[in-house]
Amino acid sequence: MSFETNKDVLDWYERQERALTPEFMSSIPWNKVKDTRFDEKFVPVLFYMRDVETLTDMYHRELQRTPTGKDPHISKFMERWGVEEITHGEMMNRFLNELGYETDEKWQTQVRNAVTKAYQANAYMLTTLTNLIGKKFTATHMTFGAIHEMEAAQGYRRLKSLTDHPVLNPILDAIIKEESAHNQFYWSVAKLELNKNKTARRIARFVTEHFWAPVGQGSLAKRRTEYLCATLFSGGEGIETIDTKVTQRVRQLPGFDDITKITEVIGSMAETSNVSFEAALP
Ligand SMILES: [Fe+2]
Ligand SMILES: [Fe+2]
Repeated sequence: MSFETNKDVLDWYERQERALTPEFMSSIPWNKVKDTRFDEKFVPVLFYMRDVETLTDMYHRELQRTPTGKDPHISKFMERWGVEEITHGEMMNRFLNELGYETDEKWQTQVRNAVTKAYQANAYMLTTLTNLIGKKFTATHMTFGAIHEMEAAQGYRRLKSLTDHPVLNPILDAIIKEESAHNQFYWSVAKLELNKNKTARRIARFVTEHFWAPVGQGSLAKRRTEYLCATLFSGGEGIETIDTKVTQRVRQLPGFDDITKITEVIGSMAETSNVSFEAALP
């Protein structure tokens, strides 16, 4: 797909129907979750995904303070995007409940409140700094968005193939479909923004090389990110997936043709982590 303006990308996105429709969600046989064994080692991964999806909200609010969030097409996309990510978090939470992991009625508020003050202060400072750079930073935001979406989609794919649970499989397929549409939006806008000028490309590449970390690291405890990487991406096949489905796609963006960062970071987390089950829970 090739787009000429951010508006074209938004128009494309708006033509995509939601995969997690009310009909789809009401057809989920929740009462059958317990009929199939689910390996407990994936439980912290479900919690991690739930929390990352829920914190999208916070990230959305941070971006609204920047020139990126003031772009009318990007902000329109983000309204729907935020809603979809919240649903993904809710699906994970419900599945955990059905497995027997009870959560508080106010779990979403708890997840948001658990983010450290240090992280929030840091995020505030970064947002202020990006405002100094101005519009040229949009390319960086969009590149990060694209990487995070690809990484999320691959995480769900790996989770699906490793757990192969009949109730979870169709939920994951629907989530993956929405993540792919999010990625298409971010990736396409990133490409347009990066093509606009050299400074935008330089900043995006610099920030990715120096500050990129797997989605959720920073707002959630690092040990939880490590556990997720080790559980989903260790061994040849896992890291191969990240390399072909994420890193190599990022290389197609202007100014990123030789990037190795994502494979390196996730690979080293996956291979060196020995975080226990208990330590990986929220
Ligand atoms: Fe999501
Ligand atoms: Fe997404």
